[in-house]
This record gives sequence, C-alpha cells and structure tokens, in this order.
Amino acid sequence: MQYPSIFSTTVNPLFLCMTRWVRLGLAGICLAGLSVAAQAQTDEDTARKAAQELRMLVTEGTGVIGDLQPAINSGKTTKDQVAPDALVEQFKARYQKAAGAALDIKAPGLIGDTRRAYLQAFTAVVTRFQANLTKGGQDAFVPAFFRAQSLNDFNKSMQGKLQAYATNRDGELINGDWAVSKVMKGSPLAGEVTKLMATGDLEPVVKRSGSTVMGYYPMKLAAACVACHAQNGLKQKEGAFGGALVAQVPVK
Ligand code: HEC
Repeated sequence: MQYPSIFSTTVNPLFLCMTRWVRLGLAGICLAGLSVAAQAQTDEDTARKAAQELRMLVTEGTGVIGDLQPAINSGKTTKDQVAPDALVEQFKARYQKAAGAALDIKAPGLIGDTRRAYLQAFTAVVTRFQANLTKGGQDAFVPAFFRAQSLNDFNKSMQGKLQAYATNRDGELINGDWAVSKVMKGSPLAGEVTKLMATGDLEPVVKRSGSTVMGYYPMKLAAACVACHAQNGLKQKEGAFGGALVAQVPVK
C-alpha cells in the first residue's frame, strides 16, 4: 500500500526521533480520548428513549427464540427454519409489529447505535449456535441463554454507551451465572436493581440515578416459563415476577 508522501517523509522520521516515553504518552492520550468518546454522554431524554428501545429490541429478539421453544425442545426444527437469515426476518417482523414501524438501522445517534449493535448481536448468536438450534432437545437453546449471549455481544460493541443486563433474584436462579452480583458486577445500579427485584413489583421503573439513567423492566411469568422452569427445579407462579431486564445509560 502506498502512503501519502507526508507520512513517509515528514511524520515518520519525527515519530522515530521521539523517545519511547513520548510515544507511549501519545498512545495513552489517544486511548484516553477513545474511551471518553466511547462513554460520550447523552442527554436524559435520549437515554430514556434508548432504554425503551433496548427493551423492545431484547423483548422481540428473545421472543423469536421463545416462539421456537416447542420445536427446539422436541428436536423438530428444520435447517431452513432456524437459518440466521430466517431468524433475522422473524425478528424484524416481530419488531415491526411491536413498534408499529420497521426497524430503521440507519437512525442516527444512540438509538441507531443500539439498533445496529443489537441486530449484529442477534445475528452473531443465532449463527454461533446453529448446532443447538438444528439438533434441538429439551433446553437445547432456551430464551434466557440466548438473551445472555446476545447481551454479552451487545454490551461489548456498545462500549459503555448503553449496557444491558438480564437477571433474577438469587433464590430463583437456574443458572447462577445470571445472578445480579455477577451480571451487574461493577455497575452503579446493582444495589438498586437488587432492591427492586426483592419487591417483585411488575411495573417498569425508568429514572435517573446519579449520572445514569436506569430502565428497569420486570418480566412476567407465563405458563410456558413456569412449566419449563419447573423441570429445572424452580417453583414459580404464572403471572408473577420472573426476572428483570435492565438498561443503563450514562448521562450528562
Ligand atoms: C424451554 C424451557 C424454558 C422456557 C420456556 C423459559 N425458560 Fe427461563 N430459563 C430456562 C433455563 C434452562 C434457564 C437457565 C439458562 C442458562 O443456563 O443460561 C432459564 C433462565 C431464565 C432466567 C435467567 C435467570 C436464571 O434463572 O438463570 C430468566 C430471567 C428466565 N429464565 C425467565 C424466563 C421467562 C420470563 C420465561 C417465559 C417468558 C422463560 N424464562 C421461559 C428455561 C426456560
């Protein structure tokens, strides 16, 4: 590759003349700048909208895997049915129905970033777990597992601009990895979420907490959730609190 002459003749010799410490220092400033940019804080109104958007994306995305549970658990999925393209189409259709508008991934700002990162995470996870999806079997690919994997990918690509967590109360965990203390380790909202979950209240709470906007969205247990969790030794009641989705957005 041919670099413009300014690089090879002017900048490069200068760079080479610098002491190692100066170069390290410059790299440090660069990295600090990047992390500030990544944490670029948004206004409260946008943060609330982004939290709500996150909720819609995660609910509809996870719903695609929820819809497939009977087929997955009985090992009756077909390759075409669970191909990444087919599942992405299902996700877009569910989103459009819930939002009343097509998923616009070209939207600017935090909302657009949230949509792009979620769509990318959704696609990556259903691609990565094709074997579980096609082979199937009881609990071969449950919604919560899909959600945890996709939020992990999502959080990485959002780099702190919006972080999302799914968790449940300590006494009602099937997989201890999804405990608040693990999933929200280091989050300023961990204590508040623990308290909110303890109430078992089903009303969402969207509010500012310090320099963060929190979107707390409880999940309500349906009959299918309770039946499947019972097979994993959990005693729950239909209509009761069954975990929470949390969005965390740093604000100005
Ligand atoms: C086909 C079985 C199945 C269905 C249906 C199901 N779950 Fe689960 N759920 C599981 C399993 C298995 C886990 C543990 C996942 C893991 O190991 O990652 C889990 C985990 C969870 C978790 C994470 C905390 C934990 O206990 O590990 C939440 C929250 C949750 N489920 C909520 C729900 C809700 C709400 C529904 C219904 C809308 C539902 N689940 C439907 C099997 C199911």
